[in-house]
Amino acid sequence: EARLGVLISGRGSNMAALLHASRLMADCPYEIVLVAANDPQAPGLAMAAAEGIATFGQSHQGLGRAAFDAIIEAELHRHGVTHVALAGYMRLLSPGFVERWAGRCFNIHPSLLPAHKGLHVHEAVLAAGETMSGCTVHLVTAELDGGPILGQARVAVLPGDTPESLAARILIAEHQLYPRVIANQFRSVSEPLPRLRALALALPEAAEKL
Ligand code: GAR
Repeated sequence: EARLGVLISGRGSNMAALLHASRLMADCPYEIVLVAANDPQAPGLAMAAAEGIATFGQSHQGLGRAAFDAIIEAELHRHGVTHVALAGYMRLLSPGFVERWAGRCFNIHPSLLPAHKGLHVHEAVLAAGETMSGCTVHLVTAELDGGPILGQARVAVLPGDTPESLAARILIAEHQLYPRVIANQFRSVSEPLPRLRALALALPEAAEKL
């Protein structure tokens, strides 16, 4: 089972979605073992603590990027974290961190990437007069919001939408998308193997030739 560390900066509603989905899902292939924030006052930390999850809050202020990430990373290792999920983590990660967690670090972004990377996404969607937006889960790489896309959900823009109303509707889709995509990451590698093994048992001669 994957041991997930979730990094947040504030509210933590995506963290909560990941947590509740993991408890509801039959045979959920991941478990949240740590929620860490770059702000000790992040409301999501209190929520995670009340849910019985280990938490860690430390301000990044006055620390260099690599030094701060080393503190977070030490905490991830202390809790045996195998994979990291960024959930409203509003801080760039250092290149070393990104490299060490390559393929094991997920992010959710409130647009249909590659459109509208970075900040002020909903303002940009409305300013461009787009009729469709959504959210994306991707692997974290050195390029901001630029890693391989793992899953997307589309959300229609409504006439009269404000950045706030659009963000709130996309958030609902985020809460559905993120747990599913993360769970599927682990299922897609772990499920075919038993099936292949069963096939090898059933067809020993064919398996020998493989
Ligand atoms: C979410 O909409 C997430 O997609 C976005 O911040 C919000 C965090 O809400 N993330 C980014 O913009 C990352 N650049 P939450 O704290 O309630 O999960």
